[in-house]
Amino acid sequence: MCGITGVVGKPNSNVVEKIMAGLEKLEYRGYDSSGIAVVCDGRIERLRAVGKLRNLKAKLEQSSLSGSVGIGHTRWATHGRPTENNAHPILSENVAVVHNGIIENYKELKFDLQKDGFIFETETDTEVIAHFLQQKLSEGFSPRESFEKLLKTVEGSYAVAAIFSFLPDTILAARRKSPLVVGFGENICIGSDLSSVLSCDEVVYLEDGEYAEISENNALFFDREFRPMNPTKQKITENLENIEKGEYEYYMFKEIMEQPSAIRKTILNNKITENIFGGVSRILILACGTSHYAGIVAKYWFEKFLKIPTDVEIASEYRYRSPIIGENVLVIAITQSGETIDTLEATEYVRKCSNSRVIAIANVKNSAVSRIADFVFYTEAGIEIGVASTKAFTAQLTILAELAFHNHDFLTKQFQNLPTLCEEVLDLRAEIKYLAEKISSASSAVYLGRDTLYPIALEGALKLKEISYIHAEGFAAGEMKHGPIALIDDTMPVICLCPRNELFEKTASNIQVALARGKNVIIFTDSEGSRLLPSGTTKIILPKISEEFAPILYAIPLQLLAYYTALLRGEDVDKPRNLAKSVTVE
Ligand code: F6R
Repeated sequence: MCGITGVVGKPNSNVVEKIMAGLEKLEYRGYDSSGIAVVCDGRIERLRAVGKLRNLKAKLEQSSLSGSVGIGHTRWATHGRPTENNAHPILSENVAVVHNGIIENYKELKFDLQKDGFIFETETDTEVIAHFLQQKLSEGFSPRESFEKLLKTVEGSYAVAAIFSFLPDTILAARRKSPLVVGFGENICIGSDLSSVLSCDEVVYLEDGEYAEISENNALFFDREFRPMNPTKQKITENLENIEKGEYEYYMFKEIMEQPSAIRKTILNNKITENIFGGVSRILILACGTSHYAGIVAKYWFEKFLKIPTDVEIASEYRYRSPIIGENVLVIAITQSGETIDTLEATEYVRKCSNSRVIAIANVKNSAVSRIADFVFYTEAGIEIGVASTKAFTAQLTILAELAFHNHDFLTKQFQNLPTLCEEVLDLRAEIKYLAEKISSASSAVYLGRDTLYPIALEGALKLKEISYIHAEGFAAGEMKHGPIALIDDTMPVICLCPRNELFEKTASNIQVALARGKNVIIFTDSEGSRLLPSGTTKIILPKISEEFAPILYAIPLQLLAYYTALLRGEDVDKPRNLAKSVTVE
């Protein structure tokens, strides 16, 4: 949530374009507003715009903003509405700051600063940072001393960067709980993620409480006690092509299409060798959103194949409800970004209250979760930019399936076929595009599935609602008669997941019941021609696959359905309203 970037250039150079290039890569983190500030002839100049980055770009074209050092921000609003006035960078007299996170004690700080005569012009929590730094400068402290005082005073989460009107070649930047990297290349830069410093070839990942003072040729690093330190620079090995849209109109579509290779690489790079489950009497999965749905699929798999009781918890609820953790628990934190604050906090909570071992399943390498977990399995999906998670989800399921099936040869052998079967599903996209026309004018939709297809129904509904804004709900097919069936009428699409498995007949009969009440019933199945699947429905025939792998395969057409529906409704699928990719606030 919120992306920050900054570049220190050569004397008399102009870093504005480079900051914009960084912001373009960070736009997935928030697009309520954006802004840039630079130091120019002993002054801070800034430009801000509401809405997507293209609005800032348009303003820049009309301006002569130029400076040799600067910071940029793309915002997902927390404190204060998404107005231009609340857009970052936020200014005090000689200071400009950008911030990702939440300052929890901002009210107390604001009160003190107001008493000292500072006038607040925004509704943001961030403004206390700018005025606090200015206050310390006015009291005669150096920028570095002021910054250290700030870090001692503010509570909450932050990745923050500041520039000073009288320092044409310096950025001070710090992090606590929100991500921040320092990149080394033609220039020294900072950014919220690797993609935003990709003109760099080496990088330092700042840890919680650390800060950096960056100048044209040098970066000084300080630990949480503010002692100088010398962190190791890491080579950037990420594939740059992965973060370009290439021939595709949207990242989401590119990422859907990349699933066969993401699954292939994930299988190749994650061999389950050690006895991860030895002595484990319970598994506790912590995750949010789509990752949480991957966790529910895993519960069905783990209990069936590992015979270990498994609980799946919504991370934002878990630590606030006095949970009983117990002994010999293996915690699995599932998170694409590795920085979802709810998942991190819930996992840390279990760590503090028990001696449970923690493994993580993450997509972003070196992300915060890797510092909490004893071991990380990385999904090899590559950087996921589309706000709606797609390839990371099926890659998470792949690792969870490997964990669940590792002692079952008949299943492990089938992993090799999985990418090819996914390709076959992707080849059905013309049919699914056509299907989207049947739901694009609906105001709500229902998704039904049983067993491991139940969480896929939840995920299908989430995909549809988040990018097309059609209200959608997923239900366990057998649960529908206990209430949700009241929703069904002729206009409501009922999307049913009905692979040939032990529960096929039961799901088919749920479909009959739905059809008796509605006209728009759509069935995804591998059972072509079954007499149990009623006529008068639309059927999409998927490749046959053993039932254990069905959730991975059936997730894909639902992603495509949501994608094409959103396109038909004219929505920006990569940047759905009100959302951001990494959720770093509670
Ligand atoms: C939905 C989606 C979100 C994320 C959730 C958790 O398409 O992407 O629901 O799954 O915010 O994010 P991670 O997996 O990064 O912890």
